[in-house]
Amino acid sequence: MEEVLKLLNENNSVQENLKILNEQLKGKIVFSTSFGIEDQVITNEIFSNQLENIEVFTLDTGRLFPETYEVWDKTNLKFGNKIKPFYPEASNIEKYVSDNGINGFYNSVELRKECCNIRKVQPLNRALQGANVWITGLRAEQSPNRQTMKLVEWDEAHQLYKFNPLMNWSTDDVVAYLQQKGVPYNTLHHKGFISIGCAPCTRAVKEGEDFRAGRWWWEDQSKKECGLHQ
Ligand code: ADX
Ligand code: SF4
Repeated sequence: MEEVLKLLNENNSVQENLKILNEQLKGKIVFSTSFGIEDQVITNEIFSNQLENIEVFTLDTGRLFPETYEVWDKTNLKFGNKIKPFYPEASNIEKYVSDNGINGFYNSVELRKECCNIRKVQPLNRALQGANVWITGLRAEQSPNRQTMKLVEWDEAHQLYKFNPLMNWSTDDVVAYLQQKGVPYNTLHHKGFISIGCAPCTRAVKEGEDFRAGRWWWEDQSKKECGLHQ
């Protein structure tokens, strides 16, 4: 597996790198999409090039924007219904909401992280079971702690390799790709949204604000990760 991963490099196109993985890697490859603009680029590459050894999944937290469900639906219409959804455990949600209220995550960082854990992290762990390579839409430009990431990196927490094919893409590169190829994207991007997660935890950002300023905006800057990525 390591020999194949060494073939992935920043001078290849995304398509070339994904094809190498699809054709040569003996092992389970998964790609997680939240239907963000980066994810739509990768989804388009996977489905339009029939890279069938890559399994595409999404984590439906149950609290996504209606616009996000629309992108999911449009993506299905374009490529067929091929994205596997993972859902939170119903009993965990029932307990959390009974104990803390439907929007309990606004009350403390701990309650917010617990909600992310139930709605995202636990389903992610199920989705990654048995996977050797996890493809993501992470980009260096998105946040300071993403600037140190590598194209291929070992994920100690999940015991697999993470592959970030768009690591060095700019927002303009991503937008130009989607427009040129006619790939569906979230209409909230026309309303000032950049990084889009769950509806109650995402707001639009103002001109000049940081990429992720609209995520968990009521919290201290340093707390802003949900546990999907370390
Ligand atoms: S997060 O950690 O803040 O939620 P972000 O929204 O930047 O992550 O997305 C980064 C990458 O994480 C996406 O490209 C995607 O691979 C993965 N991801 C985030 N949210 C989800 C989700 N709900 N379902 C599947 N993958 C997701
Ligand atoms: Fe819960 Fe908000 Fe985390 Fe979504 S982003 S799982 S609603 S705390």
